[in-house]
Amino acid sequence: MTPKEKPLWRGPAFRLCGLSAALFLCLQLGLRRSWAPEEKAGAAAAVGALPARGSRLGGAEAHLGPEAAIAGRRRVTYLRSSRRRSSEPPPGSSRRKIIRWHVDLQPWASPTPSLNYEALRFLKYITTPQISCEYMNMNSLTDKSESIKKPWSICLDDRFSLVHRIKSRQCRLYSLGLGSDDNQFERSMANGGCEVHRFDPSIKSAHVQEGQHIWYHRLSIDWRDPNPAIAAHKLRSHTKKLGTILNEFGHQKIDVLKADMESAEWKILENLILEDIVEQIGQLVFEVHIHWPGFEVSGNDSTVVRYWYSLLKELELKEFRLFHTYKDLSKPQMFLKKEAFNASSCYTLSWVNTRWN
Ligand SMILES: *[C@@H]1O[C@H](CO)[C@@H](O)[C@H](O)[C@H]1NC(C)=O
Ligand SMILES: *[C@@H]1O[C@H](CO)[C@@H](O)[C@H](O)[C@H]1NC(C)=O
Repeated sequence: MTPKEKPLWRGPAFRLCGLSAALFLCLQLGLRRSWAPEEKAGAAAAVGALPARGSRLGGAEAHLGPEAAIAGRRRVTYLRSSRRRSSEPPPGSSRRKIIRWHVDLQPWASPTPSLNYEALRFLKYITTPQISCEYMNMNSLTDKSESIKKPWSICLDDRFSLVHRIKSRQCRLYSLGLGSDDNQFERSMANGGCEVHRFDPSIKSAHVQEGQHIWYHRLSIDWRDPNPAIAAHKLRSHTKKLGTILNEFGHQKIDVLKADMESAEWKILENLILEDIVEQIGQLVFEVHIHWPGFEVSGNDSTVVRYWYSLLKELELKEFRLFHTYKDLSKPQMFLKKEAFNASSCYTLSWVNTRWN
């Protein structure tokens, strides 16, 4: 029996080996072919040619098409050139797309790190609009006299899609806040016909609908799990990442993301950038706080300011443009715990995603 058994056992094993080799070759060829266009057209064109990020929602991300291969490669390249080589994504994440773990830090503002130069560069950046926008609030559509400077500004100029999506009743606003009671902006968007989702961990029930267009959700947006700031209020189970909420709600796009997160905005913004959620967002209106580094932002003062600046540069890299900046003179005029640089502790910044439609 033994002489016969050997060939029988070997046959399928060899065939399996051959099959694996062939499969491997095919994969190699397939991948190389799908990478080729990017190499010719350049990274920028390939980025532009990617389909709407929304397509990864649901189960779509599970199968790897050529787009996924390109996207994956883009990120791999990014990881390779990243300063911190030691950080590798955990094994579980391979099912999802490869995500980055750190933003790339911009060079220091001066040859030797100095708070003075970092602060001047950063403050100049957040007070200098990069593009102009003529119509910046809902009233300005009907009443041109309504042009008082308001903190929460959106761009309703014709060349950006928001105004068209409002007119066709497709607009969606996500508003992130921590128990703030000023809902004027949300109401004006709802009155304009937008679907408004307000995320506020302090409300009583899980989901409440108000009128036709406003929903309140007892959820707090987090950059990871768990958030110590929220855990202190024993609301741990109600914190989620924005990407998770988008998936759960089945939403692929947010026309406007408003965030007033009392210093959690820096880590939230970082998370949205690292997970590419910003690509699903048309306009960002963020209140930023600079009287202290913010939740889980560490390092000396110049390192902190350089990190803030680097985050905003990442937005610029993703074709977001700052069109409105509002310095809040009613808040303490503080910059990293000091009265310095004539800065306010609080600015409201509005960006439009010029790649979005
Ligand atoms: C702050 O920390 C960075 C990185 O650790 C260091 O290079 C820099 O010299 C420090 N800056 C100041 C002003 O101490
Ligand atoms: C300080 O800021 C205020 C308000 O933005 C501005 O009006 C003023 O000109 C600034 N002062 C200096 C010295 O830059």
